[in-house]
Amino acid sequence: MFASRAGAYLALFVSFLLTFLNLVDGVKHENFKTCDQSGFCTRNRGYADKAAASGSSWTSPYQLDSKTVSVRNGQLTGVIIKTIENGSGTVRLPLVISFLDSGVARVTVDEEKRQKGEIELRHGSPARKERYNGVQDWVIVGGLTLDQNIAERTTDQDETIVSYGPKKSFQAVIKHAPFSIDFRRDEETQIKFNSKGWLSMEHWRPKVDREQKEGEPAPPESTEDESTWWEESFGGNTDTKPKGPESVGLDITFPGYEHVYGIPEHAGPLSLKQTRGSSGQYDQPYRLYNSDVFEYEMDTPMTLYGAIPLMQAHRKDSTVGVFWLNAAETWIDIVKSKTSSNPLSLGIGGTTDTQTHWFSESGLLDVFVFLGPTPKNIIQDYSELTGYSQLPQHFALGYHQCRWNYVTDEDVKDVDRKFDKAKIPYDVIWLDIEYTEGKKYFTWDKDNFPDPLGMQKHLDSHGRKLVIIVDPHIKNEGNYPVVDALKSQNLGINNKENNIFEGWCWPGSSYWIDAFNPAALAWWKSLFAYSNFPGTTPNTFLWNDMNEPSVFNGPETTMPKDNLHFGNWEHRDVHNVNGLTFVNATYEALLARDDPKHQRRPFVLTRSFYAGSQRQGAMWTGDNLASWDHLEASIPMILNQNIAGFSFSGADVGGFFGNPSKELQTRWFQAGAFYPFFRAHAHIDSRRREPYLEASGYVEPITQALRLRYSLLPAWYTSFHTAHTTGEPVMRPMWYVHPSDEAGFALDDQFYVGDTGLLVKPVLKEGVTSVDIYLPPTSNAPYYDYFTFETYTGSGKTVHLDAPLQGHTPVLMQGGHILPRKERPRKSSALMKFDPYTLVIALDNAGRAEGELYIDDGESFEYQKGAYIHRRFRFSSSSSADDNNKENNFSLVSDDLHPAPTKQTTSFLKTMKDVRVEKIVVVGALKAWEGKTEVVVTEDGEKERKVALQWNGGGRGKAAWAVVRDPGVRVGRGWRIAF
Ligand SMILES: *[C@@H]1O[C@H](CO)[C@@H](O)[C@H](O)[C@H]1NC(C)=O
Ligand SMILES: *[C@@H]1O[C@H](CO)[C@@H](O)[C@H](O)[C@H]1NC(C)=O
Ligand SMILES: *[C@@H]1O[C@H](CO)[C@@H](O)[C@H](O)[C@H]1NC(C)=O
Repeated sequence: MFASRAGAYLALFVSFLLTFLNLVDGVKHENFKTCDQSGFCTRNRGYADKAAASGSSWTSPYQLDSKTVSVRNGQLTGVIIKTIENGSGTVRLPLVISFLDSGVARVTVDEEKRQKGEIELRHGSPARKERYNGVQDWVIVGGLTLDQNIAERTTDQDETIVSYGPKKSFQAVIKHAPFSIDFRRDEETQIKFNSKGWLSMEHWRPKVDREQKEGEPAPPESTEDESTWWEESFGGNTDTKPKGPESVGLDITFPGYEHVYGIPEHAGPLSLKQTRGSSGQYDQPYRLYNSDVFEYEMDTPMTLYGAIPLMQAHRKDSTVGVFWLNAAETWIDIVKSKTSSNPLSLGIGGTTDTQTHWFSESGLLDVFVFLGPTPKNIIQDYSELTGYSQLPQHFALGYHQCRWNYVTDEDVKDVDRKFDKAKIPYDVIWLDIEYTEGKKYFTWDKDNFPDPLGMQKHLDSHGRKLVIIVDPHIKNEGNYPVVDALKSQNLGINNKENNIFEGWCWPGSSYWIDAFNPAALAWWKSLFAYSNFPGTTPNTFLWNDMNEPSVFNGPETTMPKDNLHFGNWEHRDVHNVNGLTFVNATYEALLARDDPKHQRRPFVLTRSFYAGSQRQGAMWTGDNLASWDHLEASIPMILNQNIAGFSFSGADVGGFFGNPSKELQTRWFQAGAFYPFFRAHAHIDSRRREPYLEASGYVEPITQALRLRYSLLPAWYTSFHTAHTTGEPVMRPMWYVHPSDEAGFALDDQFYVGDTGLLVKPVLKEGVTSVDIYLPPTSNAPYYDYFTFETYTGSGKTVHLDAPLQGHTPVLMQGGHILPRKERPRKSSALMKFDPYTLVIALDNAGRAEGELYIDDGESFEYQKGAYIHRRFRFSSSSSADDNNKENNFSLVSDDLHPAPTKQTTSFLKTMKDVRVEKIVVVGALKAWEGKTEVVVTEDGEKERKVALQWNGGGRGKAAWAVVRDPGVRVGRGWRIAF
């Protein structure tokens, strides 16, 4: 029996392997559910259809019991009464609406019977009876302080109106019967809950046996379609659903909003498409159910590896949003329609409503509402709740060289030497699963990696790091202490009978760590101690893959939903946050391995993620293909991650599966150099494709792209610091930067880097050698070509730039910005640490520019104690713009942005005391400077010095520019340079 089962698994495993290796066809559709194969998706869509078909005769059966409503200390509480259809009673659903200090409102609905445990589970299941209420413990890290200053009044139409937010300019209009909420800002409705009446909380009910027993009267016929309430089968696996139907659903309408963004991860456009009833759009809802979807398809709402249920709705000059906090499988329908409200009452609003329908399989209804009005407001409030992007170690912003696999420690050293020989910079080399002894994590393959420490010493000698993979599946094999501990201490995820769950993954038969379990977390930490994992060093960092979790023989390549986690929560309830808990364990383990006084910021790359994962490291878009459409899709995918609070994101450069053509490989490096996370990776069956292997004519532009990345590292690091402290994205779409410019709302193939003013448009199509860049109508600033200083004036038009393959990615500098750079090519970013800076000043029409530079030690947490440099550079004139070409009184000033220097600041400054600015380039320099030969430099506490200025006239469309060589000013000091 056992043997035959194992045999069947083996056959399955082999067939999986074959699929992985052969790459014959793309994504296996039959492995993943469509809406009609999911019971709760079908039911919720059906409910919406029924309501819509009934038109005005539809009344939502949910009423807020007015007698129960109470508003106190920033919260409204009450009980929603659901009337069960056909009169068989009512269900009590406790409601809490929390008004937070930030101006965010949170609506939470539970179910009293389940809350109190007054229900019965079927099949003798040991699962918890409550709706899952633990996801907030993993996701929310702040921002929950209640607003004590809200004002409330109840009208005679049984309506409670709560005013809250900045200057009480927000209102929640809560209608009691039927229950609905309109959220208003400045008297205008921005978001509506249940205006369509699709709110649905599937209450607990016992399964009624409908079979007639001998001698007994026939039981009553069901008046509802129960066909998907109980057991559900898919792909040969049966979900026993011991809790019966438990889904939550709600319609959320954005009146006057035509664009919605967010809810990663999907491979489709940034501006989300409609999912029902219109041609050329999707016919499936957007799905969030973290899954191992290899060779995924383009332009579909199909689920991928991670989920962030944050959606922003945007129209001219207004952004609002919702965050649906639920870790169960979730689907979202989107439909746009001509606005139903009186357009006049919408003020300047749009003429389109976007109506969305959200539903999750289980758990609470728990939604956060953001009323903007700017995209920045939303991302700041969301980041305060779920945490800011980690400030990565500096090396992590360099280039990462990965492949499945570097096969021996000699291979690693050889690749390393070849990079050096080709003078190509890189920071990190990666080891995929083959470094282990038989896919047993925390071991090294002794034949192929006899000397991991020697290998790392070699890397270390030029400042390079190692990343190794450790996945959540633990090989089920004798004499493997890791699996012995997992089993004997009950640290694994259990099956529905509460015995350890066994499934198949890379090692074959495996168990999975339950990272929800505090004891498992403590154990996981111990495994990474240098003494417990010999061969690792402080420069060994981690890659967590397959953490959806991927289970080769599981339903939809993941875990059965009736599996049980710590606390007896069903896997169904926690699925989408599972990957986050595993990265959390690894992150904590990397902290724990260091002496508490010298902790370094962990680096962990994850494939699966949820809201909050941005606190823990980087993500990448999983197993893409070496094809042009995957290169093209990477930009909107990464942009969507960025506006969803997770900036540290990238896609496998070159494409994971298959072999890129020389052209594709080159274009991918040119684009990838502008991904926040920049890593090349390749499947085990693909050809070797380290950049130095490229043919002549291709290796040069790839090298240039890499050097460009390295020269801009000061700007990247500063942008990551901004993301870390404000939540603002590192990679920004047009609508985010220019929220008034409607022509940019759907653009997702060009983007800005942080606050730098760099506008990037990579070439993403085969055979293309030029791009058209859309320039927004900014009145006061030209755009300059980054490389040639060619000048373009932005006025809501498209400009044409040459982009030959042997050149580089088109990049423009928006006037008004100052960009820090480092220009000396080095082997790795570590070796650039004390290199001097270049400041590139792109002037606006008034001769002004501004920019920031953030520097710290790049690895420790000392910055949290003040050990950093944060400067603002400002170029301005004391005279009016009109006098530009006459008045000769411009200066560049470096101001300190450090709010409160500490003794750690002083000691950090000491380490940086010799780091200077070696060059200043002013683009858009004034005609009046022609003939000028020097500038006057004043550094804090030092005598004035004169330094040479070189003026170049530009011409033929090129801006004039001026260069100050070696002004000698120190980067950590205050100074002024008068032009
Ligand atoms: C309610 O009962 C009526 C009459 O018995 C029936 O026609 C209808 O389908 C029922 N509704 C539902 C949702 O079961
Ligand atoms: C990881 O989880 C633990 C336990 O919930 C929590 O205390 C810790 O802050 C988490 N760490 C991160 C990086 O989120
Ligand atoms: C130049 O600017 C400085 C500082 O703003 C000011 O004191 C000085 O008078 C100005 N000189 C001219 C010629 O405008």
